[in-house]
Amino acid sequence: MSSVTHAKPDVQSSADIEVIVRNFYGDIAEDPNLGRFFADVDWDAHLPKMISFWSSILFHTGEYHGRPFDPHARLQGLEAANFDQWLARFSTSVDRHFEGEAADRMKHKAEQIATVFQVKLGLWGIVDRDVTP
Ligand code: HEM
Repeated sequence: MSSVTHAKPDVQSSADIEVIVRNFYGDIAEDPNLGRFFADVDWDAHLPKMISFWSSILFHTGEYHGRPFDPHARLQGLEAANFDQWLARFSTSVDRHFEGEAADRMKHKAEQIATVFQVKLGLWGIVDRDVTP
């Protein structure tokens, strides 16, 4: 008897990114924590935008021309916990069908950008700051 482990493929193309993006946003409106932020999204515009965003980051296609942070400044009641929830959901969406260097890079980039967004939103707290001289 032999058992063969089928490794998942790495993220290699815009089509692969589309799989992840559709997975991530597919039922996000029903997400108990994040759904309300996505209630008014125009999906026909948002999904292609996100595919070009991630293609530009991973494969340097240069096809995304936008201001990624701007819409987030308009979201009411966004908290640091929402970013943890977003990142957990994102990792799940990547890991579902892919693994490898590009998959890891995608998750790492998402974490970096989430940190930048939180800093800009004033949600990145300084914990245990030592103010004694
Ligand atoms: C709690 C976390 C987050 C929430 C609730 C959230 C929500 C949203 C919403 C509602 C939009 C606007 C969609 C529209 O109507 O057009 C948006 C756009 C976008 N988001 Fe997020 N987001 C989050 C985190 C992130 C992170 C971590 C990234 C990057 C890794 C990201 C990347 C983007 C990009 C690129 C756009 C499109 C910007 C453009 O218009 O060019 N988001 N997001």
